[in-house]
Amino acid sequence: MHLKNESRLKSLIKGISWRIIGTIDTLFVAFIITGDTVKSLSIGGIEVFTKIFLYYLHERLWSRISRRLWKKTQGLFSFIRFKNFVFSSEEWLVNRSDREKKNEHKGCVIWLTGLSGAGKTTIARHLEKKLFEERYSSKILDGDVLRSGINADLAFSENDRKENIRRTAEIAKIFADTGFITIVSLITPKEEFRALARQIIGEEDFHLIYVEASLEECERRDVKGLYAKARKGVIKDFTGVSPGNGFEVPTNAQIILKTEKTNIELIVIQLLEYLKEKVPTKQYLN
Ligand code: ADX
Repeated sequence: MHLKNESRLKSLIKGISWRIIGTIDTLFVAFIITGDTVKSLSIGGIEVFTKIFLYYLHERLWSRISRRLWKKTQGLFSFIRFKNFVFSSEEWLVNRSDREKKNEHKGCVIWLTGLSGAGKTTIARHLEKKLFEERYSSKILDGDVLRSGINADLAFSENDRKENIRRTAEIAKIFADTGFITIVSLITPKEEFRALARQIIGEEDFHLIYVEASLEECERRDVKGLYAKARKGVIKDFTGVSPGNGFEVPTNAQIILKTEKTNIELIVIQLLEYLKEKVPTKQYLN
C-alpha cells in the first residue's frame, strides 16, 4: 500500500517536472525562431494547455484500442519472438549426450503396435521391470493411461487417433531426448499413423515392434470386455470390429512378437537382446 502511494506520487512529480522541461524547451525554441519574448511566452503558455489536452486524448485513445492492437501486434511478431527465444538443442547447458553419459546408455523409443488385447501393455510392463533391474532408465507411455489424462479430450475417430498418436510421439521424443528408453504402447492401427510417429521421433530413435495376435485370439481374451461391447454396438469405432476401423498390419516392423506362441519371459529376452544390439550402452559411450 505504502509503495503504491509512493509510486503514484512519484509519477505525478515526474509528470509535472517533464511538463516544465517541455515548456521551457518550447519557450527556448520559439524565442530562437521569433526573437520575441512576448510571442515566445504566448506560444509556451498556450502549449502547456494544448499538450495537457492532447495527452489526455492520447491516453483515452490507447486505452480503447490497446488490447486489440496488442493482440494483433503479438500475432504479427510471434514468429520473430519464437525464433529469438527458442534455444536449439546444442544451446542447452545440459544436453542429450550429457544425459546419455550419465544414464550409461542411449535414449530411444520402442513403439509397440498391435490390436487391443494383443499384449502390448503386458510386454511394456515386463520389459520396463527388466530394464529397471538392469539399471536402464525407462518409462512407459501407455494408450489407456494417456487417454485418462493428457489425451482425455480424444475419442477414436480417425482424426482423434491421429492426434493421440501425434501427441504421444511428441512426448516420447522428449523422453528419448532425456536419455530414456521410452516404451510406447498404442494400437496405432494405420501405416500413416506409424509413419507420423516415425517422422516426429526420427528414424534413428524409432523402433517399431509389432505385437501380433489374431483378432480371434484378442477377442477370445477380451481382457477389458471391450470386444463384446463393440460386437453389440455399445462401443463405436472399435479397432478390428467396427466397419472402417481395420488394423493395417505393419510392413516395416523391426521385430514381430507373436504373443499367441511365445511366453512373456522369452519376449522380454528377445527385446532386451535387440536393445543391447541397437541401443549402445556404456561400452559405446565415452
Ligand atoms: S490408438 O488407436 O489411438 O492408438 P490407443 O492405444 O490410444 O488407440 O487406445 C486403445 C485403448 O483404448 C484400447 O486398449 C482400449 O482399452 C481402449 N478403447 C476404448 N474404445 C476403443 C475403441 N473404440 N477402439 C480401440 N480401443 C478402444
